[in-house]
Amino acid sequence: MRKYMMAGNWKMNKTVPEAIALSQQLCNLYNRDWDDVDIVLCTPSVDLRSVYTVLDFDKTDIELGAQNVHWEESGAFTGEISVPMIKDIGCTYCIVGHSERRDMFCETDEMVNLKVKALIAADMKPIVCVGESLSMRDSGDYLGFVTAQVRAGLAGLDSDEAAKVVVAYEPIWAIGTGRTATPEQAEEVCAAIRATVAEMFGADVADGMQVLYGGSMNPGNVESLLAQANIDGGLIGGASLKADSFKQLIEAAAKA
Ligand code: PGA
Repeated sequence: MRKYMMAGNWKMNKTVPEAIALSQQLCNLYNRDWDDVDIVLCTPSVDLRSVYTVLDFDKTDIELGAQNVHWEESGAFTGEISVPMIKDIGCTYCIVGHSERRDMFCETDEMVNLKVKALIAADMKPIVCVGESLSMRDSGDYLGFVTAQVRAGLAGLDSDEAAKVVVAYEPIWAIGTGRTATPEQAEEVCAAIRATVAEMFGADVADGMQVLYGGSMNPGNVESLLAQANIDGGLIGGASLKADSFKQLIEAAAKA
């Protein structure tokens, strides 16, 4: 049985005081039913230390993630942060290859793969994002495109390493647009992702892997998305920025 995951992607939102307030609100709302869900807060890097302190003090099972990382351990990479830095600050997860980074910051599949390998070498868990643009969806070959992103992102891993990966399917046309993929559209791609992982690493790894959906997930659509066989949770942007809406998503996963 796979556990559901609800991962908040705060993107470039929340100053340190705002981040402390939101994480404190979530800790105050935490109840033991939430233990059944893997809950992750992926905050801006400047907020990580403060949020870690809140989560650690409250002894909830909420985990911390970064939104990006460089694959080199240290060196002349102005503006970047390394795997040892985010691990030391308390992160157990890191988002890799979000479409905003691929589109706006020129991240390639090769860079995604280097980051995935660097995180796994440090015993951290990458949340690898894949997803097609609207023009790619309209062209009809979106399954080929997304599964190629999975193959490239996870290339060169062995099955023990692949077992540490979470994949998030985020159709670009659904991110921040209010236009969610239908449960059937999301399920089709998540099932194809799982089949690709099975081809690459075997059925056990594929059966155990958490495959998330992301793109305008909200309290109104979460239940129908989680009802799909191959959707194990969400990577949530907008609806993770308020304690009340994120709580509703976590509770939907706890009940699903
Ligand atoms: P959204 O963002 O929930 O605001 O659509 C999801 C994401 O980009 O991870």
